Amino acid sequence: MTTSHSTFLCILLVLLLFSLPFTITSSATAEAEALVKWKMNLSSASVLDSWSISNLGNLCNWTSIVCNAGGTISEISLSDAGLSGTLDQLDFTSFPSLTSFCLNGNNFRGSIPSNIGNASMLTFLDLSNNILEGVIPEEIGKLTQLEYLSFYDNEIIGVIPYQISNLQKVWHLDLGSNFLETPDWSKLRNMPMLTYLSFGFNELRLEFPEFVLHCHNLTYLDLSINHLNGSIPETLFTNLAKLEHLNLSYNSFQGSLSPNFTKLTKLKEPQLGVNMFSGLIPDEISLISSLEVVVLFNNSLQGKIPSSIGRLRNLQQLDLRKNHLSSTLPSELGLCTNLILLALAGNALQGPLPISLSALTKLSDLGFSDNFLSGEVQSYLITNWTEVTSLQLQNNSFSGKIPPEISQLKNLVYLYLFRNNFTGSIPYQIGKLQNLLELDVSDNRLSGTIPPTIGNLTNLRALHLFRNNITGIIPSEIGQIDISSNP
Ligand SMILES: *[C@@H]1O[C@H](CO)[C@@H](O)[C@H](O)[C@H]1NC(C)=O
Ligand SMILES: *[C@@H]1O[C@H](CO)[C@@H](O)[C@H](O)[C@H]1NC(C)=O
Ligand SMILES: *[C@@H]1O[C@H](CO)[C@@H](O)[C@H](O)[C@H]1NC(C)=O
Ligand SMILES: *[C@@H]1O[C@H](CO)[C@@H](O)[C@H](O)[C@H]1NC(C)=O
Ligand SMILES: *[C@@H]1O[C@H](CO)[C@@H](O)[C@H](O)[C@H]1NC(C)=O
Ligand SMILES: *[C@@H]1O[C@H](CO)[C@@H](O)[C@H](O)[C@H]1NC(C)=O
Ligand SMILES: *[C@@H]1O[C@H](CO)[C@@H](O)[C@H](O)[C@H]1NC(C)=O
Ligand SMILES: *[C@@H]1O[C@H](CO)[C@@H](O)[C@H](O)[C@H]1NC(C)=O
Ligand SMILES: *[C@@H]1O[C@H](CO)[C@@H](O)[C@H](O)[C@H]1NC(C)=O
Ligand SMILES: *[C@@H]1O[C@H](CO)[C@@H](O)[C@H](O)[C@H]1NC(C)=O
Ligand SMILES: *[C@@H]1O[C@H](CO)[C@@H](O)[C@H](O)[C@H]1NC(C)=O
Ligand SMILES: *[C@@H]1O[C@H](CO)[C@@H](O)[C@H](O)[C@H]1NC(C)=O
Repeated sequence: MTTSHSTFLCILLVLLLFSLPFTITSSATAEAEALVKWKMNLSSASVLDSWSISNLGNLCNWTSIVCNAGGTISEISLSDAGLSGTLDQLDFTSFPSLTSFCLNGNNFRGSIPSNIGNASMLTFLDLSNNILEGVIPEEIGKLTQLEYLSFYDNEIIGVIPYQISNLQKVWHLDLGSNFLETPDWSKLRNMPMLTYLSFGFNELRLEFPEFVLHCHNLTYLDLSINHLNGSIPETLFTNLAKLEHLNLSYNSFQGSLSPNFTKLTKLKEPQLGVNMFSGLIPDEISLISSLEVVVLFNNSLQGKIPSSIGRLRNLQQLDLRKNHLSSTLPSELGLCTNLILLALAGNALQGPLPISLSALTKLSDLGFSDNFLSGEVQSYLITNWTEVTSLQLQNNSFSGKIPPEISQLKNLVYLYLFRNNFTGSIPYQIGKLQNLLELDVSDNRLSGTIPPTIGNLTNLRALHLFRNNITGIIPSEIGQIDISSNP
């Protein structure tokens, strides 16, 4: 090649470069090369067709890439892109301006590389819903600009690095659904901006994490499904006064429910099920008027359902199943007219269903089974329960007739009346419950004949009438129900 030729080529090259839409800086080239190198190790990367060195001039228009005004990459957003691969080949040191990195909902495996700490401008980091494993690198603590961090639902192991609390600007921290273990909480600094914290569904042990008690801005706290024990520290009630959601379920917390709970005046949703809480449900619970969902199932609570509960007019779900509650049902429950779910099964509750419950017109799910409840189920009580899909009264001592008005509960899917003392005959109107999947009236003292209208319950997949004193022939209409074909 002659000198004049190469001079010409040089000029041509310079002209070409100037005609490109962006000035290609050396850092843009490094970014593009880093992305392409990473892409080579990803499968199903056809969504990333635009990621190619030959398309370098359009870097800022590559799929899932956003640049800042200076033409360097500020965002990589690959959520639900169907990608598999690792992060090993992604060199985070190549992205000096990266503020947002999102891989939510892919199939990334392997570990989180420690050089992630070099992407020091990150404010948003979301690696949730992948299959990442290994430990959280302590270099995570270098990302001091982070405001949002989620590793939710991966397979990350090891102790939570205390350096995570260097992230003093983080307001959303979700490490839930991994296999993370307990750090020395005393090494963690207070994270003043935290409003959302989840360590739920991990392998945390020992007592309530001390560090959490100093995160005064928390509105959402999830420590559920771990192996935490001891009692809830009283300082929680004074320090975390902004809490709206508190999920401590599926742990081994013990002790009684402190009246100081009422200091959590914003609390909407305490999830305290499957622990070892004991003692009484404090009367003061009614002072938390914001309560919408109260879940205390599977503990060792005893005594009565406080009648003050009637003041909780925002209550939508009350789940007190599997405790040792032994009172009658307070008629004030009928004042909680926003209740959708009322689950009281598996206690030692006695007496009749208060007639006031007829006012609970929004009820969808009603469980009173496995108690010592008695008396008649009055027609007046149930006619307003038109939204109820599941009515479970089994294993009590209810007596009297099955009210024919039960046929007005048009949305009923499950009707369990078994192991009671119901008498009289099965009302023929029951054939109107077109949505019934399961009807169990076994183990009562029912008499009379089987109403042929049962044949109208064409969706039934379970029908139990045994251990009664029902006589006569099995009506041929029952042949209309093809139980084997129902799901
Ligand atoms: C990355 O891809 C190259 C070439 O396809 C391959 O040789 C290498 O093993 C891959 N590395 C990882 C960590 O997947
Ligand atoms: C960006 O790419 C799209 C197609 O993916 C194209 O329609 C558009 O013109 C490109 N914009 C620029 C500025 O290159
Ligand atoms: C990346 O961070 C490490 C420390 O974790 C540091 O030694 C290294 O110099 C950084 N690399 C670049 C390119 O900034
Ligand atoms: C709560 O967060 C605000 C910013 O939203 C911050 O100014 C304040 O210092 C925090 N409060 C505490 C007690 O940490
Ligand atoms: C909590 O669990 C640890 C083991 O994980 C045990 O050593 C400790 O005694 C338990 N504390 C309480 C109060 O049950
Ligand atoms: C804990 O309860 C909250 C509702 O307060 C819920 O959104 C969350 O999924 C629960 N956590 C787990 C791990 O199930
Ligand atoms: C409730 O909190 C106060 C301090 O605010 C404390 O003195 C009291 O002992 C707590 N009550 C219970 C039952 O622990
Ligand atoms: C409820 O607690 C008992 C122990 O008291 C346990 O055997 C059972 O599995 C728990 N049920 C649920 C749904 O967790
Ligand atoms: C049924 O609900 C209405 C309000 O929707 C109420 O006025 C009426 O008293 C209720 N009936 C019974 C029997 O409680
Ligand atoms: C049913 O009633 C009979 C007679 O009143 C009584 O002896 C029996 O204990 C009752 N059974 C149940 C399950 O309530
Ligand atoms: C219900 O069943 C009865 C008797 O089998 C029948 O006469 C009636 O037409 C049925 N009603 C409906 C709505 O299918
Ligand atoms: C069963 O019903 C028959 C008549 O229908 C009656 O003679 C008998 O006493 C009843 N038995 C019981 C245990 O209720």
